Formats: sequence, structure tokens, C-alpha cells
Amino acid sequence: MAKEKLLFQYERFDHISELTEDDQLMVDQAFEAMKGSYSPYSKFRVGAAVLLENGQIVLGANQENAAYPSGLCAERVAVFAAKSQFPEVAIISLAIAVDSEHIQIKAPAAPCGACRQSLLEFELNQDFPIPVILATKERGVLLIESVKSMLPLFFDRTNLDD
Ligand code: THU
Repeated sequence: MAKEKLLFQYERFDHISELTEDDQLMVDQAFEAMKGSYSPYSKFRVGAAVLLENGQIVLGANQENAAYPSGLCAERVAVFAAKSQFPEVAIISLAIAVDSEHIQIKAPAAPCGACRQSLLEFELNQDFPIPVILATKERGVLLIESVKSMLPLFFDRTNLDD
């Protein structure tokens, strides 16, 4: 028997203004993306911005549905759109912003498990990690170095190899 440990490291910033200029721009884009949120059920607005290696920034927002599971998170809307338009282009970074007129935002929102799994697939397909920025207006920002770090003991295509 062996006991193993994984370390999960991230950076916490009190305010968006403490981020690098490039990261602030990504956060601005994520808030811009949030304008497209369709969230009449949760009233929880999420915007995501994906920066691609070709300089394009692709936006996405959460899309809900009366049949709840038919909706999709902002991250997957953005990343699937980016990969649909630019299948061969690597992802440089991802910013996710949350806000609500009805719910008090207490902390940055981390991607759900399904989003982590979807994002990881693209990260593993490229040569470098995808930093993830989790932003709020008043409740700080987290900077996570990679998707992989958020999903230890993941399942990927190597599990399906012969
Ligand atoms: N949601 C996202 O878009 N991304 C996340 O990281 C967490 C949750 C959405 C899904 C749903 O529309 C609403 O937030 C409440 O769960």
C-alpha cells in the first residue's frame, strides 16, 4: 500500500486590478460574454472568454432550459464554440466571470465537473496547460495554473488504449 498526495496550488487576488494587463483583458471579456447569459431559472449569470493562439477571443455564456439538464455552462459554450471555429488552434487561457442581480456572489465559481472533463480533453491535446481565471466583481479572483490541476485522477483517452 502506498499513500499518495496531490498538491493543488492557485493564486488568490483581492481585486481584478491586481491581475496582469492581459489577464484583466480576459476578465473584461468574460464579463462582456455574460451579457449573453440566458439564466431565467438560476438567475446566476456566467460568462467565459477563451483566448486562442491565433489571437482570437471566443465568448460564451450559460444557456439554461426549462428542462434543466438541457442547458449548458458558459465554459463549455465558449470552448466548444472556439474549437468548432478553430479546431486546430491551441487555447492560451480561459476566464470565467460570475454575477447575479438576485443571488449574492460570495466567491469565484469554479467549473463544474463536466466542464473540467471537457476542458481537460483540449488541454491534453495541446503542448501547454490552460490557465483558468475565475473572476468576480467584488469577491476576488482565483488564478489556476491548469485544468489538469483541478481534476486529479482524471479519465482520458489513454484509459481507452489497447
Ligand atoms: N454554471 C456555469 O455556466 N459555469 C459554472 O462554472 C458553474 C455553473 C451555470 C449553469 C447554470 O446555468 C447556472 O450556472 C447555475 O448552476
